[in-house]
Amino acid sequence: MSDYALTRDVWNTSPHAFPEAGSIEEQGRALLDWAILAPSSHNSQPWAFEVEDDAIHVRVDESRWLKVADADRRELHISIGCAVENLRIAAACFGLSPQVDYAVEGTSPVVTIHLKSDQTRDSDRHRTLFSAITDRRSHRGKFKDRTVSWKTVDRLMAASTDADVELVLIRDREVLDAIAELQKSADERLMDDRSYREELGEWIGAGALGDGWAKAKIGQWVVKNFDLGSREGANNAQLLRDAPLVGILTTWDEDPTTQVRVGELYERLALVATSDGAATHPMSQILEVPDFHDDLRQAADLKEVRPQHMFRIGYPRQEGDHTPRWPVERFLV
Ligand SMILES: Cc1cc2nc3c(=O)[nH]c(=O)nc-3n(C[C@H](O)[C@H](O)[C@H](O)COP(=O)(O)O)c2cc1C
Repeated sequence: MSDYALTRDVWNTSPHAFPEAGSIEEQGRALLDWAILAPSSHNSQPWAFEVEDDAIHVRVDESRWLKVADADRRELHISIGCAVENLRIAAACFGLSPQVDYAVEGTSPVVTIHLKSDQTRDSDRHRTLFSAITDRRSHRGKFKDRTVSWKTVDRLMAASTDADVELVLIRDREVLDAIAELQKSADERLMDDRSYREELGEWIGAGALGDGWAKAKIGQWVVKNFDLGSREGANNAQLLRDAPLVGILTTWDEDPTTQVRVGELYERLALVATSDGAATHPMSQILEVPDFHDDLRQAADLKEVRPQHMFRIGYPRQEGDHTPRWPVERFLV
């Protein structure tokens, strides 16, 4: 999949190594150490970075697009947005007052982050979310049987400042039961598709989802060769039934830039949750089956808006490992 090896060392990145006295281009390059820690679907890390003077251009690397699971590229664009959000937070923390511009080349989003040294630097304001970048991880296990605090819910709502992306929070058990039923059907439908299993198996086999090589290879073989839909569906449905809180990000628009901004908001929310001792877990299967979008809209009372991203929120029972990343060099243009 790449000449570069996946590694967990990238999580040890330290703000002390930031080149405070370096040129703005060197500083821009250093920010990428935090960008690559962003979440992405199947940990595909589909970003490419070009640092040019005082600008960082973030583009899609099509070779890591999940053509089967994410045929409409929604998750691809959301993943790019997650990396953009880490860049924005890290830049603000190091006093580089980021200005973000969005463009589309062909059908792909291109995001440019302009950096400018800020004399009135106020790093403390950004420190909490910045520190959460290296603590955040997606939590796939059961959450503690504990309500997400109102303080955290308030912080999540307060962080949702993008007028074009709405955060809907759900804790009504009946609604979660209905979503859980959809999840079960979506897992069954997807795992029934050999090409979906093969694509997932490739990423598991590469170790992107975090297991050691041998286990990853066995995982790849099992996923490719067995239809695990009903088991996966039952597990995931139970996770949703028991979820302390579920978030759905919705939009009116459906374009690449809006989806990048969904990713920015998702990562900000994941960092807010992390900084309050909670965690998030994206669950994309319902959204990966277009036939189920209307059912989700109905179950969650979303009216006509487009659900873009769904995730559980809660307190982890135990801290899991970080997933590995490729080193920054792999992503430089
Ligand atoms: C757009 C998007 C969709 C995702 N969908 C799922 C999902 O359906 N199930 C899941 O377990 N994780 C999902 N994830 C989480 C990724 O698998 C995770 O971010 C990646 O493995 C890296 O691990 P980390 O988030 O712990 O750093 C998704 C992440 C993103 C950004």
